[in-house]
Amino acid sequence: MSAMRIHLGGKTVRILKVDPLNPEDDILKIASDMIKNGKIVAFPTETVYGLGADAFNPSAVEKIFRIKKRPTGNPLIVHISKIEHVNELVEDLDIRRMKVLERLWPGPITFVLKKRSNLPDIVTGGLNTVAVRMPSHPVSVALIDMTGPIVAPSANLSGRPSPTKAQHVIDDFKDELDAIVDGGETIFGLESSVIDLSGDHPILIRPGPITFERLRNIFPDLVIDVDKIPSSSFDHYMTKKPLYLFIGTVEKIVKSILSFVEKRKKNFVLLCSEETKNMYPDNFRKVIMGSRVRPFSIAKRIFDIMRKVDKMDVDEILVEGIEEKGIGFTVMDRLRRSALRIFE
Ligand code: TXA
Ligand code: MG
Repeated sequence: MSAMRIHLGGKTVRILKVDPLNPEDDILKIASDMIKNGKIVAFPTETVYGLGADAFNPSAVEKIFRIKKRPTGNPLIVHISKIEHVNELVEDLDIRRMKVLERLWPGPITFVLKKRSNLPDIVTGGLNTVAVRMPSHPVSVALIDMTGPIVAPSANLSGRPSPTKAQHVIDDFKDELDAIVDGGETIFGLESSVIDLSGDHPILIRPGPITFERLRNIFPDLVIDVDKIPSSSFDHYMTKKPLYLFIGTVEKIVKSILSFVEKRKKNFVLLCSEETKNMYPDNFRKVIMGSRVRPFSIAKRIFDIMRKVDKMDVDEILVEGIEEKGIGFTVMDRLRRSALRIFE
């Protein structure tokens, strides 16, 4: 257990290191007091780190939009730790619907529901719906228990890959936030699935860690429409170096990467898999994303790898696509948004 400060520029960011499985109450108390006082505190969830503020404090919420450089038309998710919190945020939720939410909560899934009027409009960008998530990470649960509902967008600058480690948050915000609860690496490494339940039919508007196949067991009439999410025109997961994505069968991917490299003669790094790493010349600079037969391992590391290779002395980033099923569908959703060009 430790609480330290690091000086970045003019201000001090408090780094509150906690045990991710059994977070220390006295340390979380520091974080929760700060949130209650209108401060911005980053914290880990099982998906990615979030930039947290009191959901009922409009000026704290406004500060989140400002430091994240987030367009105000892109609303925030409200995070809760118990089902009773839902009633503070949501209108007209019947018992049957509540039971469905409880089948998937706590966990890496967000539901869009009809908003109650007492929730500040800035949270939802003026929409009459609110996105709500009950995370399962012990640090998030304990923190929200102390503070009540917290708004938390992913703790990255708007348009950058989401943060899966405290260092990623520091890299993006330097001295602009008040504290970070450092609970180590997040678990899934990709943001929550988002299901819009505010209309007649459930719509998956952002694929996440819970696969579509599994969600269909609970919502048999679920459809996917990723264009329905307000952020569809903003989320780019952009690296500073151009990222090129290669898709198709494994043989086709390897072949098109080899011919791409042959023609361009640029200084690149290739993100490849355990299974394909030996199919390229030895002098290729490679980073292994994980194994194609264990796509969760790729999901967990992909944002970290994107941030890492971005700091390398290279001109461009080449990425092998993976099979677009199960969690692979979510990984590819993020990679497609990140890519400057897709080769198929
Ligand atoms: O896993 C996650 O969801 C992480 C962690 C921190 O919980 N949070 C996260 O927040 O990814 P953010 O702000 O980066 O993404 C929230 C997404 C955005 O695409 C936003 O447009 C959408 O949720 N959203 C928020 N409120 C909405 C609403 N009322 N209706 C539809 N979409 C909404
Ligand atoms: Mg985000």
